[in-house]
Amino acid sequence: MAASAPGKLILFGEHAVVFGEPAVSTAINLRTEVFARPHREWLVDGASLDEPRYKYVKRALERAWRGGPLWLEIRSMIPTGAGLGSSAAVTVATLAALRDLERRDLVPESIAREAFEVEHDVQGRASPIDTSTATAGGGILVTPAAEDGLLWSIRRDTRQWHLHRRSLPSLTLVVGSTGISAATGPLVAGVKERVDRSREAAEAVHEIGRIALDGLAALEKKDLAEAGRLMDRNHVLLNDLGVGHPALDKLVAAARPHSHGAKLTGAGGGGSMFALTDEPGKVAEAIRAAGGKAYLVQSDPVGVRRMP
Ligand code: PMV
Repeated sequence: MAASAPGKLILFGEHAVVFGEPAVSTAINLRTEVFARPHREWLVDGASLDEPRYKYVKRALERAWRGGPLWLEIRSMIPTGAGLGSSAAVTVATLAALRDLERRDLVPESIAREAFEVEHDVQGRASPIDTSTATAGGGILVTPAAEDGLLWSIRRDTRQWHLHRRSLPSLTLVVGSTGISAATGPLVAGVKERVDRSREAAEAVHEIGRIALDGLAALEKKDLAEAGRLMDRNHVLLNDLGVGHPALDKLVAAARPHSHGAKLTGAGGGGSMFALTDEPGKVAEAIRAAGGKAYLVQSDPVGVRRMP
């Protein structure tokens, strides 16, 4: 039994979304596939399930599997630790493969809820943006109040996130990866500490939320110049929250002369940036010349799915 799920790019609003502010993401055309079949002992890619790199898979099994041992195989096009949602994709695809083994329907809402719990268990503080995007595919808007196009709502402590379908124009985006991998949990905890002690940081979080709504409106109007300007401002605010990195700034600066805008994406502290551009080839070249890895990715409507 096998299932796959896409990676994601957060277009606007990472970190602020953990506080309940609006954010916008899209699934991308890089996917993770998980194969699962009953076996005499637990194995992932022929290795032990206890290896740290399988912590999301292990937690998903602990939460969702009551049967005997399985042999799992993971095949992924999504670079890990790069802010492109590899852990959400592997979590969602694992949960879907387990349901498939039990001959249960793939109900996206219940997979998204379960995947969020897995990510929350492993990561500490989290929002459901990554796991819901990997589940639903396409463009996603997260807001603190429900609106048209509601997919589902997820609550945690006093925070509540409403996840909505938004159709974005087809976007070719250039991702630049620093090659520096940074764990999401400590970065998210660092922002919380900063917001708790600084009014400026709390204001930056609110401004990022407003940018997410304005950025979505600009994308929907195909006003890429305005969307790019908002991306640039979002990047400054993420740096103010302490999740930037000199290597990210270098790739952002290299991309900007040929782009509408560029910003870090995901947790930061390394990881990746992306650029919105009409000249993807030139931007990819500039990112590579600045020492990054460059990938052209597209927004993709396909969420979690069973594989034949
Ligand atoms: O880089 P990633 O895929 O771990 O993105 C995390 C996004 C955050 O907003 C920083 C955290 C979250 O759970 O929303």
